[in-house]
Amino acid sequence: MRDSSTTRNRRSGRGKSSGATFISQEASAERGKTTQSATKSRKQSGDLSENLTTILSQKVVGQPAATRVIVPYIQMYQAGLAPEGRPVGVFLLLGPTGTGKTKTVEALAEVLHGSEKNLLKIDCGEFQMEHEVAKLIGAPPGYLGHRETQPMLTQQKLNSVTSEKCNLSLVLFDEIEKAAPSLTRLLLGVLDKGILRLGDNTVVNFEKSLVFLTSNLGAREMMREINPDFGFQSVKPAERADLTSKLQNIALVAVRKRFSPEFINRIDCISTYQPLTPESLSAILDKQIADLQNHVNTRLGARSFTLEIPFEARQFLLRKGTSPEYGARELNRTIHRHLTQPLATLVATGQVEAGARVRVNLAEDGEGLRLQATEPTAVEMPAHPTVLIVDDNRDLLHFLERLMADAGWKLLTAETAAEARKRAAADRPNAALLDYMLPDGNGVELGVEFLQGAPQMLVIVMTGTILPPEEEALCEEHNFPVLRKPFLASDVMNQIRSRLIPAAGART
Ligand SMILES: Nc1ncnc2c1ncn2[C@@H]1O[C@H](COP(=O)(O)OP(=O)(O)OP(=O)(O)O)[C@@H](O)[C@H]1O
Ligand SMILES: [Mg+2]
Repeated sequence: MRDSSTTRNRRSGRGKSSGATFISQEASAERGKTTQSATKSRKQSGDLSENLTTILSQKVVGQPAATRVIVPYIQMYQAGLAPEGRPVGVFLLLGPTGTGKTKTVEALAEVLHGSEKNLLKIDCGEFQMEHEVAKLIGAPPGYLGHRETQPMLTQQKLNSVTSEKCNLSLVLFDEIEKAAPSLTRLLLGVLDKGILRLGDNTVVNFEKSLVFLTSNLGAREMMREINPDFGFQSVKPAERADLTSKLQNIALVAVRKRFSPEFINRIDCISTYQPLTPESLSAILDKQIADLQNHVNTRLGARSFTLEIPFEARQFLLRKGTSPEYGARELNRTIHRHLTQPLATLVATGQVEAGARVRVNLAEDGEGLRLQATEPTAVEMPAHPTVLIVDDNRDLLHFLERLMADAGWKLLTAETAAEARKRAAADRPNAALLDYMLPDGNGVELGVEFLQGAPQMLVIVMTGTILPPEEEALCEEHNFPVLRKPFLASDVMNQIRSRLIPAAGART
């Protein structure tokens, strides 16, 4: 079996235009309807589809084949070429536990709608008995419980997981193998005609939906392949390729045993997720630690601190939180137990000062982590920092200006990169908040330019879209926080406070 197999080819030519409203340009709403912003928004939407594969691969580590197959369906919808009378795409995601199947759909929801929560998730484990399936579609009129059972799968629910940015609903049927046969029959109608008839005879339309089915089918047999004797850490590339195709075969055989050919034929792509390599697991850990640091900065604002986690401590977290059996599934919990909770205790008991460094060392017995907060280093702390904001959205500029003035900060505003250069040279701001898309340039490059003249300056990038990978890399390299629009004004203030004026909590 190939890593993804297109099992149906019913997608040619029958265009429809209703799907073309893919991204409704959050940025343009925010910037007013000027021609300039319309041009920008078109570029942003184009950028997004171009970069979707890269962005998904960054969020879902080590599964490039799986993420690659999804994007063309989104592009087809964006182009208005998705066929009528069926969902935009139907995907069956298979493979061992904790390898990113559910994460893929969550990551897609985040990219398309701005939040992992914007997806309709049906946990099929809750519909193992025939009578439970009524919870999904509601009982027909006249039947017992008709009034009490509100169907879970209504048009309203489907629409509620879309966003201003995108009107495509993501629907996830998790652990599909656990569903009662009547649920599979219902699904057949959804996959085939794009509609679901509810108990009260109303119809739910799935034509603007991507449907994901995940399953652990064949997982036990896969584990026998992966484990126990050769532990995949030591697998050589050739053996790994062999393992990949073995797992795919196991998955496909299991799927054929469980589902009828007509059901399988209605699936567009079957993708088998691979066991995560040590490098991928390590990259997932790094991302989760970066998320934790970001969370600390945003939540604690002026009281935040910097985490220092050396190699040995990271290895400990990987040892405890990952395994061939469960992939990265336990990593979140392990970080919570060994890092987040002890950190919370340090903060709650007043043992970490604002601006301190918290070093996380491996315990002497190697069986735990020890957190040690150092004194905050003396930082030049302007009581009233000067902040330069460069954006061509006047409403946003005025709003931030008022807010920062209330906090006693001095604010400089500019609408173009050229204007910003002049203001930066004249007033030497402590921080610069730069929109990525400027009428005459790019905020990330402007930030790098500013740093050359003023290495101490704090640069924050704002964006209404996803940054292209090279810009993301620049932000990472220069440690620029990236704020995604829409954001709360308090997020901006907290980022500046946490990084620029660690002791400001006492003053402002
Ligand atoms: N490829 C990955 N990239 C990034 N994070 C991952 C990846 N795989 C797993 N994780 C982490 O592990 C957690 C569990 O992963 P996920 O729920 O996607 O597993 P799954 O493949 O759906 O497993 P299951 O078959 O048990 O449902 C995620 O929330 C995420 O934190
Ligand atoms: Mg899952």
